[in-house]
Amino acid sequence: MTTCILKGRKMKRTISLLIITLLVGFIAIAGCSKKPANKEDKGTKAKLTIGMSQCNLGEPWRVQMNADVKMAADKHPEIKVVYKDAQNDTLKQRSQMEEFISAGVNLIIISPKEAAPLTPVVAQAFQKGIPVIVLDRRVLGDQYTCFIGADNKKIGKAAGKWIVEKLGGKGKVVELMGLMTSTPGQDRHSGFRDGIKDSALELIFEADMKWLEPDSRKEMESALARFDKIDLVYAHNDPGAHGAYLAAQAAGREKNIVFVGIDALPQEGQAYVKQGIMQASFEYPTGGKEAIELGLDILNGKKVEKEVTLSSRVFTKDNIDSGGQWLKD
Ligand code: FRU
Repeated sequence: MTTCILKGRKMKRTISLLIITLLVGFIAIAGCSKKPANKEDKGTKAKLTIGMSQCNLGEPWRVQMNADVKMAADKHPEIKVVYKDAQNDTLKQRSQMEEFISAGVNLIIISPKEAAPLTPVVAQAFQKGIPVIVLDRRVLGDQYTCFIGADNKKIGKAAGKWIVEKLGGKGKVVELMGLMTSTPGQDRHSGFRDGIKDSALELIFEADMKWLEPDSRKEMESALARFDKIDLVYAHNDPGAHGAYLAAQAAGREKNIVFVGIDALPQEGQAYVKQGIMQASFEYPTGGKEAIELGLDILNGKKVEKEVTLSSRVFTKDNIDSGGQWLKD
């Protein structure tokens, strides 16, 4: 009798245990199968593909641009961004654009390495009905949907005026230029010349460092070898200014030279200003967020401006803690 009751209890316990195990198992399976279903949902929701053609990812500013694009795009499950990095090779960027065209993406964002050689492929996409947003560096003509970027002539001119004031109207200046086949290089140069035109500044050395820190360092080594006195270096970007600084530091001359650059990323130019490596950095926003926002407007059939100009600030030791100073018109 007792054995029977005991056996009965044991059986009940075993059955309850079995039920619990089954329940736990079921919940676990249901839980697991929920995730892929969600992922699939997300996947099927992403009906629109944006091709992002980046000219290179070797510089912090471009890594930031892609991060800005991603951060904005992540808020919109209906879009999927396909990224291509041309590794600073114009021909590669052209063929990557062709790949986007033949894949029939819904929209293209391109930050082109150079203007002239990438103009035809942008025009080709545009004529095939793929909207194209040109970001930061321009192409020639008007065969694209929209251009987004800050005003490089204005930045160059503001830098020129800041430099004239800093040097009291005279002094020996080195200009280290960005790639002169790209429009920011051309505009930062012409704007700067405009900004200093009424001063007695002497431009003793100029070179194209192609936006690259190692090239800038090499060019600055030549300038230092040729000139005993250099008062200031104006570089078209912060990596350029930093490369020049390193060359001057290696020659023990960095304390006698003022370094000015452009980009002002918090982790780069702004940090150099805080550390006293550079005396001024002019902001060049990446426009990544704006490209996605405008891209969505275009994809939703809204009419957008052909030209979107982003604002820019200057950061110096005196204003950096209060967020820099906006450039005036
Ligand atoms: C990065 C960069 C930036 C510069 C921009 C100009 O490739 O050189 O430093 O501001 O491109 O297009």
